[in-house]
Amino acid sequence: MLAWEESYKIGHDRMDGQHLVLVALINQLDININDDGVQGILPDVLEAVGAYLGYHFAEEEAVMRAAGYPGLDGHVAMHRAFTEQFDRLLALAAAGQVLQAALKVRSFAIDWLIRHILQADAEYASHIAAAGPDARRPACA
Ligand SMILES: [Fe+2]
Ligand SMILES: [Fe+2]
Repeated sequence: MLAWEESYKIGHDRMDGQHLVLVALINQLDININDDGVQGILPDVLEAVGAYLGYHFAEEEAVMRAAGYPGLDGHVAMHRAFTEQFDRLLALAAAGQVLQAALKVRSFAIDWLIRHILQADAEYASHIAAAGPDARRPACA
């Protein structure tokens, strides 16, 4: 299980809330992996993790775009690379290797997500916080 820690917060309430949901979904995946009785719904849980990830990345990119964040392109590229890896694992699950795919998603999602939140996500959040309420000003570019 992955415990949510206060230090994972980046200071953007909505995005912090979405990160918390992502952690909860990864933990649900963990529950389904470890309990034979509920392994049958692993494909649905994987689907839910993928769908929420896609939603979160799109929302986050919209937040950065609205703020005129100069690191947007690099950040989007990181999201895309992660999504591609995730999609490969979804394809593995669809091909019948559900448990193997779920185990890989669990380990690489935990690792990647926490590192990404603490570095890349924290970076845009502090940029937005420093730019103030009118974040579109070119001063932050
Ligand atoms: Fe991100
Ligand atoms: Fe994020």
